[in-house]
Amino acid sequence: MADASDILTLCRRRGFIWPSFEIYGGVAGMFDYGPLGCVLRNNIVEKWRALYKGREGFVEIDSETVSPREVFKASGHVDEFSDFMTFCTKCESPFRADHLVKGFCENPDILSAKELESKFEEHGIKCPECGGDLGKVEEFNLMFKTYIGPGSNRIGYLRPETAQGIFVNYPNLYRYNREKLPLGVIQTGRGYRNEIAPRQGMIRMREFNMMEVELFVDPEDKSWSRFGEVRDCEFTLIPQDGRQITVTVGEAVSRNIIVNEVLAYFVYATKQLLMSIGVKEDKIRFRQHLKDEMAHYAADCWDAEVELSYGWTEVTGVADRGCWDLSRHAKFSGQEMTHFKRFDEPREIEEERIKAKHKALGPRFKNRAKDIAAAIEALDPSDIRDDGITVTVGGETMHLTDEFFEVVLVKEKVSGARVIPHVIEPSYGLDRLFYSVLEHAYDHDDEEDYTVLRLRPSMAPVKVGVFPLMEKDGLDSIAFRISEELRMSGIEAVYDGAGTIGKRYARMDEIGTPWCITVDYETIEEGKDKGTVTLRYRDTKEQVRLSIEDVENRIRDMLREDA
Ligand code: ATP
Ligand code: GLY
Repeated sequence: MADASDILTLCRRRGFIWPSFEIYGGVAGMFDYGPLGCVLRNNIVEKWRALYKGREGFVEIDSETVSPREVFKASGHVDEFSDFMTFCTKCESPFRADHLVKGFCENPDILSAKELESKFEEHGIKCPECGGDLGKVEEFNLMFKTYIGPGSNRIGYLRPETAQGIFVNYPNLYRYNREKLPLGVIQTGRGYRNEIAPRQGMIRMREFNMMEVELFVDPEDKSWSRFGEVRDCEFTLIPQDGRQITVTVGEAVSRNIIVNEVLAYFVYATKQLLMSIGVKEDKIRFRQHLKDEMAHYAADCWDAEVELSYGWTEVTGVADRGCWDLSRHAKFSGQEMTHFKRFDEPREIEEERIKAKHKALGPRFKNRAKDIAAAIEALDPSDIRDDGITVTVGGETMHLTDEFFEVVLVKEKVSGARVIPHVIEPSYGLDRLFYSVLEHAYDHDDEEDYTVLRLRPSMAPVKVGVFPLMEKDGLDSIAFRISEELRMSGIEAVYDGAGTIGKRYARMDEIGTPWCITVDYETIEEGKDKGTVTLRYRDTKEQVRLSIEDVENRIRDMLREDA
């Protein structure tokens, strides 16, 4: 198996990624994408778009990356989004406390600060850098904090997930979708997490790229219309009991291993996406989170894990977020975050409602009585506390006793009901996918000391290398023109005339270019425009001749076959 350092060295040398701020010594967990990296990353994003926008018909948005504190207070990130850390008392290096006890217990994620400290004691765990004693374990919130506006005390945070930008736009999106469910929304962009001690290259970054999908569904209907298409397809699962199984998607649902069709469908769609970008099928599995491992918002979660030189690594989380986010934003913003679910037939219902006592409100609150009554009637009987209710009207929060309201039983015919949609969320870590694609494509022949990146053609940043056999006698101008025409037709092509042909093939193989074209003296003899060139295939090294006129179509056909 390739070593992470080989991949990172290749990435730096050939311009896939570079450590950020290198001339100033770099910052852990921060990377810049170079020219080839940008194209490969975009190619992955395009596959994701083709799946979710193309096949599933979801819509895409692009929201702000800085959000006011209220958003993350509501989402739970201000109070819950933290890891446990410790510092070495001698060399002062920071560590994620749960990472230090890996190998000493089953699931370090679920331990409290005290339990982590006991594990250090019990197993004699010391600082991995200098062997010094580890200090107290403390909680550390991973969000980057900032201020919105100059001289302002308005706290903001860089988003730790793109998802909240979708949730806070739910009323707009719901209207856009003509008030129908299911409603699928995708967003790609940066996420920011002030990771305590990022030491695993692109696996743990402080500023990273996400591709997130939020699917709003009727909570009582988690079936999926395309489920039949994947029913007989297989995936490898590790449910909460820890036993790995390979089952069909249909069996996973019928045996209640995955609780509903829509979650199972998108777990399998994730496998399809991973394979389409070049992750190897036998190195993909889905692990269900244990109950106490789940994020604060999740009712269920299946991580797509890929086998890498780092071990099995999470690259995507497919979570059932239930109604957590919408109900929290409804509560904190006071806005409606529901779906009106129309019944097939009108139904007679009987329910308890809060009714305002207008006779008591009028004399006491005069011209504000109407607004207060409306705020009272917007409440639910479950909002009543022992000492009354609280309403906010015109920015003023007031407390009202039962002198001003009563609970009445209402019988009526209704055509539907308001429900809070549930959310299924496949959340893809783009940088981890990018790295997985490179590691699975990396093929090094030790004897020859020769590297080939066996990228799928659709992923390759350069599709065609175009070479003149010699940079003279007009071969160069023909080769240059072919590469320019390919580029202008949207096919990434690079002209290379430097060094021996063998060296040029090697340079292209190393960055995963699937095809190379060479212009030679036969081309000229046959007559510039009508002449033939050689087309060389990266993986078989086979070479065929074809006419210049046919080059673009041949490349296009081969790209289509890989789509
Ligand atoms: P981990 O347990 O590895 O910290 P997570 O469970 O916190 O990951 P999620 O919150 O589910 O991750 O985020 C969704 C996806 O974003 C992950 O599957 C992963 O691919 C990616 N991701 C999360 N944190 C990072 C990071 N620091 N650097 C790069 N990618 C990340
Ligand atoms: N949106 C998934 C996560 O960040 O946890």
